Amino acid sequence: MTLSIPHGGKLINRVDLNYNYSDLTSEIELDTMSLSDLELIANGAYSPLVGFLGKKDYESVLQNMRLENGIVWSIPITLPVTENVARKLKIGEKVRLTYENETYGVLNLQELYTPNKNEEAEKVYQTTDSYHPGVKKLLERPSMYAAGPIILTKVPPKHPDFKRYYKTPIEVRKEFQQRNWKTVVGFQTRNPVHRAHEYIQKTALEMVDGLFLNPLVGETKSDDIPAAIRLKSYEVLLKNYYPADRVYLGVFLAAMRYAGPKEAIFHALVRKNYGCTHFIVGRDHAGVGNYYGTYDAQKIFKQFSAEELGITILSFEHSFYCKKCKSMASSKTCPHDKSDHLHLSGTKVRQMLRNGEMPPPEFSRPEVIEVLIKGLEDS
Ligand code: ADX
Repeated sequence: MTLSIPHGGKLINRVDLNYNYSDLTSEIELDTMSLSDLELIANGAYSPLVGFLGKKDYESVLQNMRLENGIVWSIPITLPVTENVARKLKIGEKVRLTYENETYGVLNLQELYTPNKNEEAEKVYQTTDSYHPGVKKLLERPSMYAAGPIILTKVPPKHPDFKRYYKTPIEVRKEFQQRNWKTVVGFQTRNPVHRAHEYIQKTALEMVDGLFLNPLVGETKSDDIPAAIRLKSYEVLLKNYYPADRVYLGVFLAAMRYAGPKEAIFHALVRKNYGCTHFIVGRDHAGVGNYYGTYDAQKIFKQFSAEELGITILSFEHSFYCKKCKSMASSKTCPHDKSDHLHLSGTKVRQMLRNGEMPPPEFSRPEVIEVLIKGLEDS
């Protein structure tokens, strides 16, 4: 076995730091989410995408979870612009893409179209409820989409606290090769790594050469723990509990969509582009509230063949600490009653951390908790 072939066959590279955009007069101002999407398209993490989706691809992704050419793709990557901005643009022109007055890229504008956002919400998020954080974001963003291939002309600023963990798919693949890993499992998270996460990662690690711990550090909802604090918690966890030569930590720049099953597919395909051969999908992957069934994000993969996915999904049952087993377990391995299982909701844990209270070591490693409490106190 070798590392995964990039989705669509080859790793896209649309970075040109010497690109001369000085005579381009039109401009689209990006938001944080589209800035991260621009970088991830350009560095190949979103291969085979070469730009923001045009209408046919967009419709096809919503209806069939495929690009127009049939390649599996589940989340529309779009560039929202206001009607005012759109009015000033001309199809066929090159447009500077800016963020806080700095140019980061160029769009070869091929289309401008008005999406039906309710339909997009229904298809991607399975709800039009504006309390859903992904739907809320979708509705807040401007009403038209600009589309076409992009070039990244400047690498966006890196967070000063965790600069060293920004890695492009090319860099990650190189690292896997240097480590002589043939099979690598990718792990997506927007949370600190607690014992249940650790348990499923290490169970997977029994079967493959390496673990790519790839926490998402793009935009998340306000009550998720900030990325800089999480990164410190991953460092202390890896240092104390993981063999250094079997784990590689790199951040994933994308914004969290909270789209549950559809985002699980997207998360898996992106990790395939980083070279992963396997991807973990546990309980309620990329879920929020009660919008998705606990295992919907696992079931959805059944709609595709192994060949067209090109990455093996490792599905895990809900895991917990069992007081009778005196170990981590799941319903697949533990015969005891629910009352013997330690269960703390995310909300409860966040509350405890903010009050400086330590959740039990069966729930989370004490070193991790200490970092989180300190980080939240200082923030
Ligand atoms: S996510 O939004 O990034 O998916 P989270 O960081 O909580 O959220 O989860 C990371 C991964 O761990 C996901 O694949 C999720 O399904 C899985 N996971 C989280 N908690 C558990 C658990 N208790 N048992 C099994 N899988 C879990």
